[in-house]
Amino acid sequence: MPSDTTGFWTPVALSRDLPAGTAMPARTASGSIALWRSASGRISASADRCPHRGMRLSHGFVRGEALSCIYHGWSYDQAGHCLRIPAHPGLAPPETIRVATYDVEETGSVIWVAMGTPASKPPRLDGLVPLRSLTAFANIAAIEAAAGAKASPDGIVEIDASTGTISLLLSPQDGQTLIHVLLKGDLGPAGAIGASRAAESLRRRAEGLQKKEVAR
Ligand code: FES
Repeated sequence: MPSDTTGFWTPVALSRDLPAGTAMPARTASGSIALWRSASGRISASADRCPHRGMRLSHGFVRGEALSCIYHGWSYDQAGHCLRIPAHPGLAPPETIRVATYDVEETGSVIWVAMGTPASKPPRLDGLVPLRSLTAFANIAAIEAAAGAKASPDGIVEIDASTGTISLLLSPQDGQTLIHVLLKGDLGPAGAIGASRAAESLRRRAEGLQKKEVAR
């Protein structure tokens, strides 16, 4: 959620959804990005567009500490510099071939990407255990209305489930909202299922409210 005028942190994914040696797409208010985690576990975020011919880098593959484009195999380091062009193995890629990168942090097993230059670190989310993420075709206002509560400054709405209060970390994306479901401790399999269903139920209510709003 926007927290100041210089920039803000966006919770783009859960750590569990990005194992070492993999890449995935993610969305921010500014558009698509590529997230990837190197073999040693370092996480990176970059523009989701290869400088060569525009292939999505989130479709690429991770080799060691570099991300390679799936089209012609150009590879990039964590700072976005091109390391290798397979068709020209003897060529040192010029400095000008570079992918835009973003600051990225992990707190509370959530991956945050900085839009602009935030004045502080992302929220710590102490004591909260990530369960799953789901996308709602509804904006933040519709989700708040469905929950009967306003989001906190950190972007969290709390709702009651049969297993207790659960926290929903919201990330707005072009009229949709990515919802990260966070639990207050390990609830076990039955508790996790209950919390997951409560989140899905809230999503349905929010999407219903959003449709009514659009139909007005
Ligand atoms: S489009 Fe990425 S290497 Fe060619």
